[in-house]
Amino acid sequence: MTNKELMSLLEGRRTYRRFDESRQISDEIVADMKRSAYLSSSAMNRQPLRYVYIRTPDVVNAIFDITSWGGYLLDGAGRPKIGERPTMFVAILSAKDLQSKYTAFDEGLAASNLTLTAWAHGVGSCILGSVKHEPLREMLDISDEYDISCVIGFGYPTHTSTVVDETDGDIKYRLDDNKNYIVPKRKIKDTVTEI
Ligand SMILES: Cc1cc2nc3c(=O)[nH]c(=O)nc-3n(C[C@H](O)[C@H](O)[C@H](O)COP(=O)(O)O)c2cc1C
Repeated sequence: MTNKELMSLLEGRRTYRRFDESRQISDEIVADMKRSAYLSSSAMNRQPLRYVYIRTPDVVNAIFDITSWGGYLLDGAGRPKIGERPTMFVAILSAKDLQSKYTAFDEGLAASNLTLTAWAHGVGSCILGSVKHEPLREMLDISDEYDISCVIGFGYPTHTSTVVDETDGDIKYRLDDNKNYIVPKRKIKDTVTEI
């Protein structure tokens, strides 16, 4: 892969909130995702994370119902409608007896590997911190030995998402006239110091 291709992959690996629900994610893609999480760095190499892959439609729909989408958008415009929902969720858990003060770091790195690998196959994602933990625990039969980090929704996106520099400090993502996402980022010059 060239540098240009890597930068283009990072540019496109955005948050997606509408998917083609009729397109399933293949076993081959899921196998690459599992390997990408396996390859993640982990503080002290403790590897506290466990992953639940959910592709059974009834369970996917039940999990969808306990997630919140696109909080900055009015009138639920960020929430996928029927036909636009993800076709797979991955729940990230951490084993309490293996946790360290860096477990959130491990979770972020694993989520990054999973979502980038999916995107390399054209599969978009939305990391969902906003998921109701107790119903999820019950649905997936997660024991008290594990904490829930997040779920990530995956599917083939039906919209684009473009990063722009923020103006006047406004970092709220928005939809354009075609319902594509515009995502303001703080300017590089405002977040970087060089010495
Ligand atoms: C830890 C984490 C939790 C998130 N939780 C949610 C969520 O519950 N619902 C949602 O719609 N988006 C969620 N997002 C997506 C962010 O809103 C999104 O990353 C942000 O708007 C920037 O867009 P980008 O990912 O395209 O750069 C989450 C992202 C991260 C990293």
